[in-house]
Amino acid sequence: MSSFKVFWVAFLMSYQVFFTRADSEVSLVPAMYVFGDSSVDSGNNNNLNTMAKANIYPYGIDFNNKSTGRFTNNKTFADLIAVKLGLPLPPPYLGVSESERYKVVTGINYASGACGILNDTRVGDCLSLDVQVKYFTSTVTNDLPKHFQSKDEIQNHLSKSIFLLSIGSNDYALNYFNRTTYQNKTPIEFADFLLEKLGSKLKELYDLGARKYVVAVAGQLGCSPSKFCDEVKNEKIKPLSDKLPKKLQELQAQLSGSSFISSNPFNFFNEIKNAPEKYGFKNISRSCYVDGEPLCDNREEYYYFDFAHGTEANYRIYANECFSGSKLCSPKNIEQLVQTP
Ligand SMILES: *[C@@H]1O[C@H](CO)[C@@H](O)[C@H](O)[C@H]1NC(C)=O
Ligand SMILES: *[C@@H]1O[C@H](CO)[C@@H](O)[C@H](O)[C@H]1NC(C)=O
Ligand SMILES: *[C@@H]1O[C@H](CO)[C@@H](O)[C@H](O)[C@H]1NC(C)=O
Ligand SMILES: *[C@@H]1O[C@H](CO)[C@@H](O)[C@H](O)[C@H]1NC(C)=O
Ligand SMILES: *[C@@H]1O[C@H](CO)[C@@H](O)[C@H](O)[C@H]1NC(C)=O
Repeated sequence: MSSFKVFWVAFLMSYQVFFTRADSEVSLVPAMYVFGDSSVDSGNNNNLNTMAKANIYPYGIDFNNKSTGRFTNNKTFADLIAVKLGLPLPPPYLGVSESERYKVVTGINYASGACGILNDTRVGDCLSLDVQVKYFTSTVTNDLPKHFQSKDEIQNHLSKSIFLLSIGSNDYALNYFNRTTYQNKTPIEFADFLLEKLGSKLKELYDLGARKYVVAVAGQLGCSPSKFCDEVKNEKIKPLSDKLPKKLQELQAQLSGSSFISSNPFNFFNEIKNAPEKYGFKNISRSCYVDGEPLCDNREEYYYFDFAHGTEANYRIYANECFSGSKLCSPKNIEQLVQTP
């Protein structure tokens, strides 16, 4: 009986829900489109030639023990926001066949682990932000017209939808800190360089119909289970989150009818670092899953699932805070963004 139930839930999650229109009675917005890296990838990398995959045990151990390609034990930050919006979990673009893509009208996930804002940020194959936006362009020009009656209907759908981006960590971890390409740039110059590129992509999304954005960039990458914390590294990453709100304000002023939320995991992490117990963690510098060691039992007590990625317990704190709180996301939270005309 219970295994039948589990099967049914998994079946619903992987098929029916993706292909039915979200019930407007229960969902707060028509759709959520997701862009970014492994913090929000829901399985795009399963289809690419890369070592950066999470489609094996123990990834997904709490997601009905299904390794979907999510780099965590359960749901990602983006998934948790989708649930709060009353939407199905946005399926990975590369996980839906070309002929079925038009049926997905509640949002798609284009995110890809080991990629970033810059084209040359990568290890193996992955979808750079350029390619993610290119695929979204195809969604708008090839797939949505098969579902909606007119261009106006598509524009109405997109203007009410949420565009969630979580990106930038790999531009530091795999690029700035590990290559010589951008060594001539100071941390401030590198942050400006990333924001310029990110801004141009946000504008492309606007030109395609996006209006409501939630943008999260790299947090305290200097803190990881192997080193807790390298503050010299953190200081080099900080300019990106410091400068993001102003960049988004400028875009909002420039792009009529747009509304931008900036998420600052860099600063919010200090709250958790200063009082882990308050958030349900005993020791935030351990990881649950270390290769060759037994997996931890209580995933709810861990901040990190593997060497770099969070547990759902971790993502849940950020999702709750950005959705209805005031400490992580500014100048408004997602609840308020939804209400913005
Ligand atoms: C989860 O899946 C793994 C790999 O498929 C399997 O070895 C393990 O027994 C499963 N765990 C549970 C609790 O079903
Ligand atoms: C990145 O690649 C895209 C094509 O995939 C290209 O249009 C763009 O100019 C490239 N950007 C840079 C900075 O090389
Ligand atoms: C850093 O660069 C070296 C040499 O190119 C490469 O072998 C290694 O995988 C890179 N490490 C990371 C974390 O990107
Ligand atoms: C937290 O866990 C790490 C890694 O297991 C360990 O080195 C450290 O001593 C622990 N810290 C505390 C305060 O227990
Ligand atoms: C995993 O997600 C399910 C479904 O939302 C939830 O009931 C469960 O508490 C989560 N478990 C963990 C360990 O995050």
